[in-house]
Amino acid sequence: DEDELHDRIRAAKATLGERVVVLGHFYQREEVVRHADHVGDSFQLAGFAKQHPDAEAIVFCGVHFMAETADLLSGEDQAVILPNLAAGCSMADMADIDQVEDCWEQLADVLGPLDEPDADGLVPVIPVTYMNSSAAIKGFVGRHGGIVCTSSNARTVLEWAFARGRRVLFFPDQHLGRNTAKAMGVPLAQMPMWNPRRPLGGSTAEELQDSRVILWHGFCSVHRRFTVAQIDQARAEHPGARVIVHPECPMEVVDAADEAGSTDFIRKAIAAATEPTTFAVGTEINLVRRLAAEYPQHEIFCLDPVVCPCSTMYRIHPGYLAWVLEELVAGRTPNRITVPADVADPARVALERMLAARP
Ligand code: 13P
Ligand code: SF4
Repeated sequence: DEDELHDRIRAAKATLGERVVVLGHFYQREEVVRHADHVGDSFQLAGFAKQHPDAEAIVFCGVHFMAETADLLSGEDQAVILPNLAAGCSMADMADIDQVEDCWEQLADVLGPLDEPDADGLVPVIPVTYMNSSAAIKGFVGRHGGIVCTSSNARTVLEWAFARGRRVLFFPDQHLGRNTAKAMGVPLAQMPMWNPRRPLGGSTAEELQDSRVILWHGFCSVHRRFTVAQIDQARAEHPGARVIVHPECPMEVVDAADEAGSTDFIRKAIAAATEPTTFAVGTEINLVRRLAAEYPQHEIFCLDPVVCPCSTMYRIHPGYLAWVLEELVAGRTPNRITVPADVADPARVALERMLAARP
């Protein structure tokens, strides 16, 4: 039962001491988060993975692309362990490397050689991938002069990209791409969406030539469920409520909200409120519930009345955490995530560009 698992995890962690670091994403369930040495959003967790060079193992309570990123940024001899290998991300799976390579070739047919700068020193396209993508996609981006972003630095990263290219090819999340570019003043008419099942992604050559941001057709199955009707209802039932949503939500939802930002932005906005406030939050339920428990002076609820956990984040059951820690105690290294060197080297370049990018 839960208590027994809790005790087993505590005992194994006590035996391992500083040999192991447990990282947890904000969307993890409470029974897992309570054992994490660091909890954070994707950007913060990438930083934590670099900060423990002496630990033998990093147990990553999150999803597969985050564990891959931790492997890219951690030391060579450190093992990154994903407690349940079935914890993937449906959005990351929407950008398939073969489809992206094919898109790149089709863009070259329309826009000319993609690595040749024009008279202003700008190349035709800079690829930008959201952190929520496979290492193979990050490697592709690194090989083609591109960069990674997270929801907490997407604007800075797009500015970095526009200083180097005429356009951005943004994947996998159309919503983060659209919301960020729109806030920067890019007209919607210059943001065609690329559907890999159609020639030229479903656009004409002229539309692609005129484009500023080409959006991949991916989305997050959790955040796309939020609606303007939910916001209207929250405002009607709770006059004065502050509505904060994640930028993976559709554009109309972000437009109807008071604020939009990464999971850490949401947490900080609530932490900074000095007066008792009602917060209607559009993000994953485990984070919303934890914030509600942490800040009882505020009324904090999820915009979606039907509970909406991220089903793959939820696959990190405390039973798996207990199991991997006990295996480490026994000298074994289960569920290790290792990115092969040919992918890791360019993927690391794209990640390091992100870590160095400044507004
Ligand atoms: P952040 O942690 O960057 O806010 O991203 C949310 C998310 O969907 C992670 O999978
Ligand atoms: Fe992927 Fe969405 Fe779950 Fe994040 S919340 S891991 S983007 S499915």
